[in-house]
Amino acid sequence: SEIVLLGLPIQSGTQLRGCSMGPSALRTAGLAEALMEQGHTVEDAGDVSIAPQSDRTMEVAAWAKAADAKAFEVSQGKRFPIFMGGDHSMALGTINAMARRARDQERDLIVLWLDAHSDYNTPETTPSGNIHGMPVAGLCGEPGMDFIFEGMDRVGVMPADFQLFGIRSVDRIERQLLARRGVSVMDMRLIDEKGVSHLVGGILEDVKRRNAMLHVSLDVDFLDPSIAPAVGTTVPGGATYREAHLIMEMLSDSELVTSMDLAELNPFLDERGKTSLLLVDLVTSLFGKKIIDRAPQDVNRM
Ligand code: ARG
Ligand code: MN
Ligand code: MN
Ligand code: MN
Repeated sequence: SEIVLLGLPIQSGTQLRGCSMGPSALRTAGLAEALMEQGHTVEDAGDVSIAPQSDRTMEVAAWAKAADAKAFEVSQGKRFPIFMGGDHSMALGTINAMARRARDQERDLIVLWLDAHSDYNTPETTPSGNIHGMPVAGLCGEPGMDFIFEGMDRVGVMPADFQLFGIRSVDRIERQLLARRGVSVMDMRLIDEKGVSHLVGGILEDVKRRNAMLHVSLDVDFLDPSIAPAVGTTVPGGATYREAHLIMEMLSDSELVTSMDLAELNPFLDERGKTSLLLVDLVTSLFGKKIIDRAPQDVNRM
């Protein structure tokens, strides 16, 4: 593939500082080099920046606009963008941009949201006030978040086109909203019972049948804190190393993924770079790195 890396050093969606170092840590961990090693062409489009704002809320709105514009620009043609965050409010911009790409091709955009959290709070329901807990709600058009999209070519995403996966922390009112809107929530209980392979397989069939574009939004806290400590909002009981790689391998085999966010990496909290290195490893799996060469149809016969 023709891959383009775009840095979005956003941390205004959280109270904790450190996510602004995410793009730099991913570069240090060798993201571009690992992808080139797999035979892809990689272009680093650098980092987006914004003008100083009066407060964190205005910063998030400015970031959304800047991220949307640049994400749309770098994803032209057949280019596969990897958006290096930045806290998860980055998705307000990146997903709007990819929804614009999908609209231009008269296709739908499906979002696989890999996260411990459902990020479906609104300014009304948020217990923390942090906008990184709200991007899915904002993209689905929940009230109170229009100011973020002001001046943007806003393309809504249908709540049913979000596939929330790995979820294990949902706030009380957030839970009611998710149910009312019909968002698909594959929580850890379901994953324990049905397994990653079955559930991801079903999502991919759906993407294929609808000829949709597929955006993967990976929040570091999707992963178990034991393997990925570099995130401000760890929740126990996350995806294991093998589960995470299996998902990436299945996504790779499907050839259906069209863009990706790497969100919430806080290198300030890492242990000797292990979380950054793990993310590079996972992305490399998504882009075709295999343990051995074996066709998917051969796996079915085993
Ligand atoms: N639900 C909590 C909140 O709204 C936590 C959100 C965490 N989000 C994240 N992207 N890490 O404050
Ligand atoms: Mn549609
Ligand atoms: Mn999260
Ligand atoms: Mn998140």
